[in-house]
Amino acid sequence: MKIAVFASGTGTTLQALMDNQVRYDYQISLVVVNRVCQARDRAEDTGISTLLSKDWMQIDQVLAEHQIQMIVLAGFLAIIPQWFCEKWDNKIINIHPALLPKYGGKGFYGEHVHEAVVAAKEEFSGITIHYVNECYDSGAIIFQAKVALEEGETADSLAAKIHKLEYQHYPEVIEELIKK
Ligand code: GRF
Repeated sequence: MKIAVFASGTGTTLQALMDNQVRYDYQISLVVVNRVCQARDRAEDTGISTLLSKDWMQIDQVLAEHQIQMIVLAGFLAIIPQWFCEKWDNKIINIHPALLPKYGGKGFYGEHVHEAVVAAKEEFSGITIHYVNECYDSGAIIFQAKVALEEGETADSLAAKIHKLEYQHYPEVIEELIKK
C-alpha cells in the first residue's frame, strides 16, 4: 500500500516509519511538509519524493499522482480543511503523545503535552493513534498504549519513553489497518 507521511518537524517518527518499511506492507511514496524542516531532509536522504506546500488542492493533486491510498501524520502541525478530511475519510491517521481525550487539542503538542502530564502528577501517559478529522485530536481512537510515570519523572524522560512506544507501535498499527 502506498502511503504519504505528512510532517512539520524533526521527523523522528517519519524516520521510524522509513526504517521499518522493509518489514511491512506499506511503502512511503511521498512526504508532505508545510515548512522547511528536518523531516523533509530525512525523506530526501532516503530518496523519497517530497512536497512542500500549504495548498490543499495542490497536495490532493500530488497525492493522486503518487496513487496514495493512506495518509499518516507524523508531527504535522496544521489543521486539515474539512473538504480534504471528508474526501480522505478514514484514510488519515495521526499519532498523539498522550492518552486522548486527555491532553489533546490546540497547544498540546511536543513537550507541552509532557510538561502538562508531569505537572498534573498523572499516574500514566501513553500514545494514541486515531483517525483524523478537521478538529485537533478528536477523531475515533484506533490504538492506545500506556506507560507509567515514575518517581522524579520529567517532561524529557517521559518524552523518551513515549517516543519509544511511538516508534514501535505506529508501523504495526499501519500494517494492521492495511490488512483490514
Ligand atoms: C511525535 O511525538 C508525535 O506524537 C507527534 O509529533 C511528534 C513527532 O515528532 N504527533 P517528530 O517530528 O517525528 O520528531
